[in-house]
Amino acid sequence: TVDLSVRIGSLTLANPVMPASGCFGPALGRLIPVAELGAVVTKTVFGTPRGGNAAHRLTEIRAGMVNSVGIPSRGAAGFLAELHPRYRELGVPVIISVGGHRPAEYAPVVRDLDGAGDAYELNVSCPNLDRLGTDIGSDPDAILAVVRAARQATDKPLIVKLPVLASSIADCALAAQEAGADAVCVANSIPALPLQPDTRSPALGNVIGGLSGPSIRPIVLRLVWLAARAVEIPVIACGGIETAEDALDYFAVGARAVQVGTASFGRPFAMVEIVRALQERCADDEVAGIRDLIDLWRAQ
Ligand code: DOR
Repeated sequence: TVDLSVRIGSLTLANPVMPASGCFGPALGRLIPVAELGAVVTKTVFGTPRGGNAAHRLTEIRAGMVNSVGIPSRGAAGFLAELHPRYRELGVPVIISVGGHRPAEYAPVVRDLDGAGDAYELNVSCPNLDRLGTDIGSDPDAILAVVRAARQATDKPLIVKLPVLASSIADCALAAQEAGADAVCVANSIPALPLQPDTRSPALGNVIGGLSGPSIRPIVLRLVWLAARAVEIPVIACGGIETAEDALDYFAVGARAVQVGTASFGRPFAMVEIVRALQERCADDEVAGIRDLIDLWRAQ
């Protein structure tokens, strides 16, 4: 039998496939068999309610999708009252993404939500909170501060979602590990500036957005490869995954789990198809799990 389970700290997921934060609301539970996934990841929750960025918030260019949604959030209390019960009905572990404008804002949100999540993903890498596309997660010292404080706020597993433009992805991943994180997720969308084809003026209200989709896959593959060599904790890959083959590319460079974002907009079933295809692939090759599959390739 095939065992696709993966451990993130004290949490065991039945398989390594989950949505990327922000690309999945609880309503998707009516569209696809969510219980077949390893986990769900919520949209990033801030401590207090905030609106998102100005319209337009989403555009498609030849290179992929660019979003500048700007993390609208109902705040921790609103999340607990309105969204959390609906995520809980889905029958899979719920990973709550947590955001903050400053490093000191994260731990109080984790504390307010403690007991609600099976794990927390600290989003220190949103490209859309200011017009520069900068983020806390490019600074190893800021990562240390955020994760150390969050570590005091919960016993549940902590995942740190890192940016693509990290000064050194290895240093950022090591800072997360040193501060007590149980996994890192590599990576968020890439700061980009999409133009309207006719007027050549910015296509997004916030000017800067985050590029996602298959074109970022080779970029993120390199970062996952670097991060997986730097740290002992699991690396969760997020970047342009559309098929089980894409997921296997990431597993081959050291990822232990994958998140699917952009692909789900066009094909909500993509995540479930990836889980099923990974199971079939292991069964066909008569291996017990993904690590054995990779060992098999290496032995060739
Ligand atoms: O691409 C992203 N968009 N990454 C984030 O972290 C936040 C999100 C948004 O709401 O702008």
